[in-house]
Amino acid sequence: MDRLRERLTEAGQSHLLQFWNELSPEDQAEMSQDLEGMNFKEINGFFKSAMETSCQTKQEKVDSRMEPVPREVLGSVTRDRESVKDWEKEGLRCIAQNKVAVLLLAGGQGTRLGVSYPKGMYDVSLPSHKTLFQIQAERILKLQQLAEQQHNTKCCIPWYIMTSGRTMESTKEYFSKHNYFGLSQDDVVFFQQGMLPAMDYSGKIILESKGKLSMAPDGNGGLYRALGTQKIIVDMERRGISCIHVYCVDNILVKVADPAFVGFCALKGADCGAKVVEKTNPTEAVGVVCKVDGRYQVVEYSEITLATAERRSADGRLMFNAGNVANHFFSLTFLRDIVNIHEPQLQHHVAQKKIPYVDTQGQLIKPDKPNGIKMEKFVFDIFQFAKTFVVYEVLREDEFSPLKNADSQDGKDNPTTARHALMSLHHRWVLNAGGHFIDENGTRVPAIPSLKDGTDLPIKCEISPLVSYGGEGLEGLVKGREFRPTLVIDKHGLHELVKNGL
Ligand code: UD1
Repeated sequence: MDRLRERLTEAGQSHLLQFWNELSPEDQAEMSQDLEGMNFKEINGFFKSAMETSCQTKQEKVDSRMEPVPREVLGSVTRDRESVKDWEKEGLRCIAQNKVAVLLLAGGQGTRLGVSYPKGMYDVSLPSHKTLFQIQAERILKLQQLAEQQHNTKCCIPWYIMTSGRTMESTKEYFSKHNYFGLSQDDVVFFQQGMLPAMDYSGKIILESKGKLSMAPDGNGGLYRALGTQKIIVDMERRGISCIHVYCVDNILVKVADPAFVGFCALKGADCGAKVVEKTNPTEAVGVVCKVDGRYQVVEYSEITLATAERRSADGRLMFNAGNVANHFFSLTFLRDIVNIHEPQLQHHVAQKKIPYVDTQGQLIKPDKPNGIKMEKFVFDIFQFAKTFVVYEVLREDEFSPLKNADSQDGKDNPTTARHALMSLHHRWVLNAGGHFIDENGTRVPAIPSLKDGTDLPIKCEISPLVSYGGEGLEGLVKGREFRPTLVIDKHGLHELVKNGL
């Protein structure tokens, strides 16, 4: 204990033991275990350089140094339509050769959504009530099957899932309870990112209760440190992986291990790639992929000024319109270099927050204005180190509908918008495969349904990823047929759930 007290005094953090004598022996044991595991010198160093960088960036706004992504590094599912099939073929070939892994960033706390469990376990009330984790697992299963069929070989897409101290146990338990949704347990690898304490503006660690520090995950860029400390790079090497698709948990439309994206990046010889959608609204909460001082970067929505976000090119589109959908491609060689060489150089971003704290009188205070900072690294902070960087543009309605917020009227990026986006995509898949929908009177519903009561309700239709990954293989099931919503197509066949709400 004396040694610990000494370390804390040296680091200017001795206030953390102010209430030590009031704690129960169990709480004391827990607290000393937490404190023993912390490197205060390093944390103080992070604080100092994060604050310095944050003051600098505030002074010299990044805006004047931003340039849009040049056309030559851009592939687009609409403008390069004739190439997409080739990219997809290449991606499936890489998958069939067991070279592709997916890596899910699931260490966030889902604060905006307001649930206490991991976001991947959220059910947006689809007819099947599948959660985000289940949808993603089934897409992986289907893709493995497609690659196996095309190449006549067995293959596997390992799924690395990054969790944090707060989400690890519940995530693992959930997967185990659901038998890994049909995936092999050995090919679902959980690992944990680091946590950092919240600090006040003078660099003192904040106590959330008398015996507990206020801790938060170290941002999705905490990935790179965790890849090294948790020996994930070694695991990838052992499996012969060369391409990794990294994505965020909350996008219900995410094309996990998207063969077209993987194939595009592989054929371009890229070490790093970003998937984007066209940003059309200047105030949308997405980062933009661009160049700053000649290097690729994402400028976060919290870091760009409105004037720059509103700038338009001669064609009337937003000048910075490469909206980051948090889907990235990395070669293993690149990731290895990041972990071994560049990770320590990455700076933490500073987020000013209202952080509940125990004051010197031992009272719990919930501040109504920011009183301290959380430090986070961002997953895209490594773009600057890429030698060959590419950008892949896809259609928002096909691939991007993130779940960020709780439902509210006129809300954005919430369970309702996510559910509607998925059903509307699946509706279009049925139409494209030659199926039709009819209403309760047997009349065909027009392809673009009219909005009866002013509400923008999609046709209720859900297709299991086990049946179709990206709209393929549906003709045999739906061509020339008429369906009454709700239509569910799953591995057991077609079901029309006539009662709404099912
Ligand atoms: C993120 C992107 C933003 C993009 C948007 C698209 C980052 C830093 N920003 O913003 O550019 O336009 O998604 O939807 O990537 N996570 C962790 N550990 C953490 C924090 C977060 O694993 O410590 C994970 C979350 O579980 C989630 C993902 O990272 O899967 C994104 O986190 P979130 O905070 O929702 O990012 P956004 O601010 O929405």
